Amino acid sequence: RPNFLLAPSILSANFARLGEEVDDVLAAGADIVHFDVMDNHFVPNLTVGPMVCDALRKHGVKAPIDVHLMVSPVDRLIVDFIEAGASIITFHPEACDHIDRSLQLIRDGGCQAGLVFNPATPLSYLDYVMDKVDMVLLMSVNPGFGGQSFLPSTLDKLREARQRIDTSGRAIRLEVDGGVKVDNIADIARAGADTFVAGSAVFKARDEADPHRYDSVINQF
Ligand code: DX5
Ligand code: ZN
Repeated sequence: RPNFLLAPSILSANFARLGEEVDDVLAAGADIVHFDVMDNHFVPNLTVGPMVCDALRKHGVKAPIDVHLMVSPVDRLIVDFIEAGASIITFHPEACDHIDRSLQLIRDGGCQAGLVFNPATPLSYLDYVMDKVDMVLLMSVNPGFGGQSFLPSTLDKLREARQRIDTSGRAIRLEVDGGVKVDNIADIARAGADTFVAGSAVFKARDEADPHRYDSVINQF
């Protein structure tokens, strides 16, 4: 997969054996770990925080950890996730009081920074911060839950985001999150995405014979 990154989302993993599940998908060829943080405030669901990210690092996970903050406010958790071993930290601009400052806070901590766009959030939030983002993440579902269907309007928005990134001349990754499956990933890639979050499509497709093996599904991506 030249230049494409597959990022399984822990949201669909078995939290009771998270370390092993993350090891298993990385061994099968996944590139980065997508770490969904929900606060029951910005989104109507509650997941895990910096302690679990730290625990994955202590367990021995070496791959980049891509922390998707669906929380408000964002700054204190940004600091905690930097400390907990995050590699990339993205947040939703509408959840944040000072977007420029929060992006800078992430980079000052040595992580890559990104903004996440809900399906109806305009890309114009990028207008004055293109030089401060390393990743643009487009939600292709409304955030909060795994297992929802990909919203087709995302394809046009991906093309627009791809154009903005190419025009900027910067090395910014374009990630897509929600409803990504083996049978729609080619269209999504053609629309300009280079980094693909897949939750249920990966974790609900364990090999039946061996629940530790994800090779067959990951090879199909
Ligand atoms: C949704 C999360 C996603 C989610 C994707 O709010 O941000 O990362 O896990 O799950 P699937 O791939 O099942 O749509
Ligand atoms: Zn996510």
